[in-house]
Amino acid sequence: MTTPQNETIKLPDGFLWGAATAAYQVEGAAHEDGRRDSIWDHFARIPGAVTDAHNGDVACDQYHRYSQDVDLMRSLNIGAYRFSTSWARVRPDGVSGKAGINQKGLDYYSRLVDSLLEADILPWLTLYHWDLPQALEEKGGWTNRDTAHLFTEYAMTMHDALGDRVKVWTTLNEPWCSSFLSYTAGVHAPGRTSPEDGLAAAHHLLLGHGLAVQELRKAAPDAELGITLNFTVPDPVDPNNPEDVDAARRIDAQFNRVFADPIFKGAYPVDLLEDLGEVGLREGFEALIHDGDLETISTPIDALGVNYYHGEAVSKTPPATTLTTDAVVTRETRSPYPAADGVYVHPRGLPVTDQDWEIQPEGLTRLLVRLHDKYTSEPGVKLYITENGCAFDDVADEFDNVDDQNRLDFYDLHLRATYDAVQQGVPVHGYFAWSLLDNYEWAWGYHKRFGIIRVNYETQARVVKSSGKWYGQIAGTNTIPA
Ligand code: NOJ
Repeated sequence: MTTPQNETIKLPDGFLWGAATAAYQVEGAAHEDGRRDSIWDHFARIPGAVTDAHNGDVACDQYHRYSQDVDLMRSLNIGAYRFSTSWARVRPDGVSGKAGINQKGLDYYSRLVDSLLEADILPWLTLYHWDLPQALEEKGGWTNRDTAHLFTEYAMTMHDALGDRVKVWTTLNEPWCSSFLSYTAGVHAPGRTSPEDGLAAAHHLLLGHGLAVQELRKAAPDAELGITLNFTVPDPVDPNNPEDVDAARRIDAQFNRVFADPIFKGAYPVDLLEDLGEVGLREGFEALIHDGDLETISTPIDALGVNYYHGEAVSKTPPATTLTTDAVVTRETRSPYPAADGVYVHPRGLPVTDQDWEIQPEGLTRLLVRLHDKYTSEPGVKLYITENGCAFDDVADEFDNVDDQNRLDFYDLHLRATYDAVQQGVPVHGYFAWSLLDNYEWAWGYHKRFGIIRVNYETQARVVKSSGKWYGQIAGTNTIPA
């Protein structure tokens, strides 16, 4: 049960209050200073791939407006900015060696980091938030094992440039999306629809993570190294029906444990391998796993970033009505779960966001408790919520003011759910609102607004929403008011 909204609560001392974005979603300047295409630039040009063919050419123009955004963060008491660096900006052609480095790209991130530090905001750097250089996709992308090694080289390029000032490094953001949603479902770039490719991408992303952690650790023994995973909370529609229980288990295996188990336990889940065996995918997947890979992938880390949006009720029986939780795209897509055919999501009658994502704060409490028990407590890995937030159809007045009580409530409920996990003994160290700004919501384009700050895409004006003002007070006092 979530702590009631009429109670004032306080998060632990030292709790980190942050806001998050990602390079392709906010930077713009897609063709400036030596940046080349990433898979998202390329994908956005494919007819039907992104609603209204929106792209990140301009986005929020943060490349030119970062100091204004840093000032806004300071005014909202934001303690940490979680941003990502664009591989296609700093190693645009995916070429190995010094010759592959674009100094102008590095200079941008150096300016950003300096300005954050001047504002006393912790730079929280994510190395990969889905924007692979297109040049590497042309060599197989994440289905090519070499990409894991090139990722490590790129990670060290970033570290050489910024390691004197950046102390928190996240290797990957949501590898589930950059593998299964991208290479199996075809919903995200590069838009492939192959179960084998999704599995290969997942393994090579994990390998790249492990290799990068090893190299970063050597170069920066005191840095905080981690990964951000997105999790769902699958519940059987009927807990007494073994088929529904199995449906929930399959989703858990192919969404959550496929990444968390190799990272924290050094092995892929046995039930996942069996599920893959049933559909003829096990042998091919196991052939990708070379001797030593799982040791590399399970190299100890310091922090697990948790991205939580919602869970789902699943069954082997189709529902009477469905939720439209994906962007409406007109090109071919398929299920991201190769071994969960015939698993259906049932609407629970919960309130939903503008993307039909169910609002389910208690799922976050359960998730945090589970992650702590199963993965992070024993190795002493710090848990952070690196993303949580919601899209709503904001109504702005002529000055771009938005009174978004619905978003404020969403944050209020999820912060209370976080507090509940803390009360149950889970040491959560921080929370990042997704997102600092309205931005490019991938296949949905600019149609979905997640910001605590409104962006007027015609003028690039930023106006703090009601939710942002409220979040700023919380960040400043560490207290969630009744
Ligand atoms: C997860 C992703 O990391 C982020 O890029 C995206 O915009 C949000 N979820 C909302 O969908």
